[in-house]
Amino acid sequence: MHVLIAGAGRGIGLAMVEQLLREERWRRVYAVHRSEAPELAALAGQDARLQCLQVDQSSDAALAELRGAVDGELNWVINTAGMLHSERLGIGPEKALQHLDRRALQELFSTNAINHALLVQALHPHLSRRGELKLASLSARVGSIGDNRLGGWYAYRASKAALNQLMHTLAIELRRHNKQSVCVTLHPGTTDTVLSRPFQQRVPPEQLFSAERAARQLLHVLDDLNPDQTGGFFAWDGQSIPW
Ligand SMILES: NC(=O)c1ccc[n+]([C@@H]2O[C@H](COP(=O)([O-])OP(=O)(O)OC[C@H]3O[C@@H](n4cnc5c(N)ncnc54)[C@H](OP(=O)(O)O)[C@@H]3O)[C@@H](O)[C@H]2O)c1
Repeated sequence: MHVLIAGAGRGIGLAMVEQLLREERWRRVYAVHRSEAPELAALAGQDARLQCLQVDQSSDAALAELRGAVDGELNWVINTAGMLHSERLGIGPEKALQHLDRRALQELFSTNAINHALLVQALHPHLSRRGELKLASLSARVGSIGDNRLGGWYAYRASKAALNQLMHTLAIELRRHNKQSVCVTLHPGTTDTVLSRPFQQRVPPEQLFSAERAARQLLHVLDDLNPDQTGGFFAWDGQSIPW
């Protein structure tokens, strides 16, 4: 079985790579990362099954190169790349309408939704037709429209809702590609990474997962999902989340 993790340089994506390498069933693990990722490079030095590929997911040329670099079929593809805030780009979650900013909206839609669909498009020729096929993108519960009672965080919420719709639509098409396919979005729960760090004050310690725990829980959920559940939006404990 072959698996590709995107957003693998740090956070939950890196923790997923570490977990997958502990399982013998994975004969090849592709780790797609944007920035330099010394921890991934160190892992690749210890395990020949791991292949690290530095890719700018927003570049069509880079995605075409990625398609060429992947050898043979893929059974699992998990994209964890996501953004809520960026000091470098001056982007933070909006508390009110007045804070909405065109560039920030575009950046979050690109990272959290558009790139996810186009990564799968690039990898489509490799997606297993007869073997196991599971695709997952990391979304967020705040992307649920039905669950939105607090408001705020416009760009992040809307970009994750867009991701949910893209992956749901893809799930319908993938059923024709592989009858056994599972294509879902997953919510990891609040996890202690760079992404959530500024917003952890009011999270009770028992509800704040380590990246290692979040990765383990999400891989377990994905492993357990069956083709009848394709197109869904699931939390770290396997519960379905309303759209
Ligand atoms: N942590 C939480 O509490 C939480 C809660 C709900 C949902 N999530 C979701 O879980 C996923 C993983 O988050 P995390 O907690 O692991 O966050 P993280 O530690 O901040 O990692 C984010 C990852 O996304 C990559 N990334 C960001 N922008 C990118 C872009 N434009 N192109 C390519 N890669 C990009 C980063 O790569 P670089 O190193 O290159 O920046 C990094 O690998 C995200 O989709 C997030 O929305 C997290």
